[in-house]
Amino acid sequence: MKALEEKILREGKILNGGSVLRVSSFLNHQIDCDFLTEIGAEIARLFAEDHVTKILTVEASGIALAVAAGAALHVPAVFAKKHKTSNLSGALYQTVVHSFTHNTDYTVTVEREYLCPGDRVLIVDDFLANGKAIEGLLDLIAQAGAEAVGAAIAIEKGFQEGGRTLRARGLRVESLAIIERMDESGITFRH
Ligand code: G4P
Repeated sequence: MKALEEKILREGKILNGGSVLRVSSFLNHQIDCDFLTEIGAEIARLFAEDHVTKILTVEASGIALAVAAGAALHVPAVFAKKHKTSNLSGALYQTVVHSFTHNTDYTVTVEREYLCPGDRVLIVDDFLANGKAIEGLLDLIAQAGAEAVGAAIAIEKGFQEGGRTLRARGLRVESLAIIERMDESGITFRH
């Protein structure tokens, strides 16, 4: 999506010598609502034929984009919660996700009533790095007996493993901007 690439070039800041892209001015802290509405419309266009019944993301930064996509597709957006929640009643689907960025494991949960057999689920997230968050969401979708129709990502870091691994397992991954390389001298996108 050319408008997203231009926005990244205009407003993105490269940190940690090229391993982290800061996009807090429109995606991760302040939200550019009009722009996210445009991204949501693009996601809806890409998955228009896929009979999506639900959007699924993980809190926190994925939520804004999930809402934009859900509004454009006219379906609910569900966010998996990262809180440690008691599952004594068995009312939750839960799975453990490993974050390489933070070098930690965390549990994500969704209440069973919000992910159902027969749901056709589109995963939406702001970043795709190592792909572990999305693998966790795929696990929740499988536990529910629902179907994953694909993943729509705003920014894929193409130099990390996630995109390749998820596509290799047969998931349709649509990233609106794929960063091939970034360092202090700039950003190169994959087309
Ligand atoms: P993975 O899910 O793809 O395996 O990624 P990883 O664990 O490495 O990423 C951990 C967190 O860092 C995720 O957010 C992810 O969206 C975010 N992230 C990864 N690379 C970048 C980057 O270059 N720039 C920015 N801005 N974020 C990045 P999270 O910890 O779940 O936090 P939240 O913001 O969604 O609450």
